[in-house]
Amino acid sequence: MTISEAHFAFISELARERAAIVLKPGKEYLVVSRLEPLARTSGFDSLDTFVDEMRRELGFGRLQRMAVEALTTNETLFFRDLHPFEAIEQKLIPEIMARRASERRIDIWSGASSTGQEAYSIAMLLREKFPELCSWKVNIIGTDLSGKAVEKARSGIYSQLEVNRGLPLPLLFKCFDKLGDDWQIKPDLKKMVEFRQMNLIEPWQGLPRFDLVMMRNVLIYFDLPTRKKILDGIQKVIHPEGALFLGASETTLNVVDCWQVENCGRTLVYRVQGRSSVKPAVSP
Ligand SMILES: C[S@@+](CC[C@H](N)C(=O)[O-])C[C@H]1O[C@@H](n2cnc3c(N)ncnc32)[C@H](O)[C@@H]1O
Repeated sequence: MTISEAHFAFISELARERAAIVLKPGKEYLVVSRLEPLARTSGFDSLDTFVDEMRRELGFGRLQRMAVEALTTNETLFFRDLHPFEAIEQKLIPEIMARRASERRIDIWSGASSTGQEAYSIAMLLREKFPELCSWKVNIIGTDLSGKAVEKARSGIYSQLEVNRGLPLPLLFKCFDKLGDDWQIKPDLKKMVEFRQMNLIEPWQGLPRFDLVMMRNVLIYFDLPTRKKILDGIQKVIHPEGALFLGASETTLNVVDCWQVENCGRTLVYRVQGRSSVKPAVSP
């Protein structure tokens, strides 16, 4: 199965305009592999007829929304890359707790949270390692463009295969209930996390000031101006002393200069440039 040049151009423009996702020529296989099954399950006899119908929609119609959603890559796992979670445990949470001791409140954002594993990993870490936070207001917000991913995250239900990826067995037994063949996060942990559908390229509304922002493995899909806009935007929703994590292959270098990179254990953390207690900068 292939896709015509004109249809590929239409789909890549749709993905760019609605989600800032860049699909350069050469990514035809990705479009076909994601949209072909969607076309079939939506009752179309081919990808061509599906795209034709999409092109007839006025504005950002139902089929176009479905297509954009199907073009997102929702790959994620519990405690992904591990080192950021070690840094959160060993340095950042103790630091935040000292700083916010009078308000007794912590705000954390898992931006591009996909199906929720990152946000729940943080909830489990806080519950396990910082039991004293039980009397604090801990607010973990997960946001993602994909309605389907957000729905799954809200359910907190994961297959055996999904819990096998990154979740230590003792945590599985302690933090999840068995639900048929699947596992569901326990209600007290679920209550710590709120998931919202949110497009990073649209205005960010109703967000608190965050102590910690995880914006991992999503900037890679965007062009330079969009990365810049998002990295600038995070400065407006993060406490001056807050910390930002990016994905292992992502950086602020050569994108914006308002972030300062700092070694934090075996990972890198980004801090607002010029904050009061700056540490020496290092190159990643
Ligand atoms: C590869 S996953 C990363 C998940 C998680 N942050 C991690 O590192 O494991 C990328 C996520 O970015 C989301 N995404 C892509 N474009 C987006 C946009 N414009 N606004 C919000 N989320 C977006 C996708 O839906 C997908 O769930």
